[in-house]
This record gives sequence, structure tokens and C-alpha cells, in this order.
Amino acid sequence: MKILPTKDAVKKFLLSLPNSQTTVGLVPTMGALHEGHLDLVRKAKENSDIVIVSIFVNPTQFNNPDDFAKYPKTLDKDLDLLKNIGVDAVFVPDNQEVYPESPLIKIDFGDLERVLEGSFRPGHFNGVGIVVSKLLNIVKPHKAYFGQKDLQQVAVIKRLVKDLSFDVEIIVVPTVREASGLALSSRNLRLSPVQRENALVLYKSLSFAKTELLKGESWFTIKSEVENQFQQTPEVELEYFELVDSDKMTVLESLQEGISLSICTAAYVGDVRLIDNISVNH
Ligand code: PAF
Repeated sequence: MKILPTKDAVKKFLLSLPNSQTTVGLVPTMGALHEGHLDLVRKAKENSDIVIVSIFVNPTQFNNPDDFAKYPKTLDKDLDLLKNIGVDAVFVPDNQEVYPESPLIKIDFGDLERVLEGSFRPGHFNGVGIVVSKLLNIVKPHKAYFGQKDLQQVAVIKRLVKDLSFDVEIIVVPTVREASGLALSSRNLRLSPVQRENALVLYKSLSFAKTELLKGESWFTIKSEVENQFQQTPEVELEYFELVDSDKMTVLESLQEGISLSICTAAYVGDVRLIDNISVNH
């Protein structure tokens, strides 16, 4: 497994590939890898000749400096996991390599980012849009892999690719959960055992809401029951719990036929912010 610390090293690695037919899959990450990331890598290995993983904790997508400072960093362990699973190369740039200068451009994703994560984390998707553009330009992958847990990020990146004509296919991989239902997240490393228990309210309330919605219960009633469940869970503070059109991210108040629907939530468990979502259609 090659370790590529610079854009030049990536360029040389790409030039060393056998021929122009070789397909490259990119798995962009911020490290602190877990089974969810490894699933992205497995998918990438299934349908690309060469798999490159990037590890870069991108400062421009953190609206909260404390969250950035506390973001788990486990580089040695990450590299071991990637080596064992058979990744071809890992791009591990430092901040200077990615941001020789602070970007002047700003990306505004319009209505796609006025809700959910975008409204609670101002500037977050600007940072995601800029760093993903840079990674796509540096690695020039044929396919890039993202987890469904970050549903709004997926919508934003698909739109980025369309609007800027990036020649890449975006592949979305389902969320990996613990047996308890807790969605895997690098931030889970910061939860105490009790907080891990309390964090189960996210998935339980998503599953409850989906079942009730499909039974015909009104979204208004479901939402107030869910808000109650969150209030009764110690150390947990709900930020949002919304029914959305999974592609346009429009917030809805009832079931709609013929479109892909998801329920999305974000909550603090102690000082750790977690997100999760569930598809209503399957
Ligand atoms: O999903 C993530 O880990 C990050 O948002 C990404 C896509 C690697 C960009 O920094």
C-alpha cells in the first residue's frame, strides 16, 4: 500500500498505473475509520481496479472549532486497517497541501442546504463542496464512494458533480449499524458507555417514526411523540427530526407518493453531535 502525502505523489502514482483503462475508485474520509468506511472500501474494490482512500480532517467543514479539535485521530490504526483490506494507496495530505491559501470561492448549494445540517452548521457544505472538489481534481477517480448516513452530503455532492461537470460516478453505500441499531460514526469514539446507550434513541425514534408513518399516523403526532422520547433520554438534546424528499432535501409534513422519502435526525449526546436517517420507502 502506497502512502501519498502530496498531490505530486498522487500524480506519480496515477501515471504509474498499467494503462488508461485502469479504473480508479476514491473513498474520501476524515480518518478514525470504522466498519462503515471499510464497507465503502469493499464496495470500491468490487468495482474499481485501483482503490485510493483519502484521509484528511477538513477544517473548512467544521463550523465548531471545538468539534474540529476533538475529532478523533487514529492514523496508525487507520493505515493498518486499510493495508489489511487491500487498499492500493492512501492520500494523507497535510493542511498546507490541501489549502496552500484559504479559498476565496464560496459554494452555496441553495435550497439543498437551507435545511437540516446546512441550517444547523452554517458553512459546513461550503467546506465539504470545496474539499470534495479538490479531492476529485487531485485523484481524478472514475467512481467515488460516500455513506448514506450523510444523506444531505450525498445530495450536495451529487449536485456539485452535476453543476461542475466532474467526470465521476457517485456511489452511495448503505449505513452500517451496530447490532443495537446505533449508526457507526467516527464520533462514537467520544461517547461514554452510558452515552452510547442513550444515543440509541436516534435509531429507535427513526424506526418508530417510519412504522407509524407507514401505518397512517400523522407526521405531526409522530414528531411530538418523538420529541417526548428525546426529552426523556438523559444527556440527549434533539436538534431536528424531519421527513424529507431524499433527493431535493425538501422538508415534508406527510407521506408523498412517487418520491424517495427519508427521515433525518441530529442530536447532541453530551457534547457529541450525531446524525442518522432512515429510508421510508424500503
Ligand atoms: O464524510 C466525510 O467524512 C467528509 O465529509 C468528507 C466527504 C471526507 C469530506 O471531508
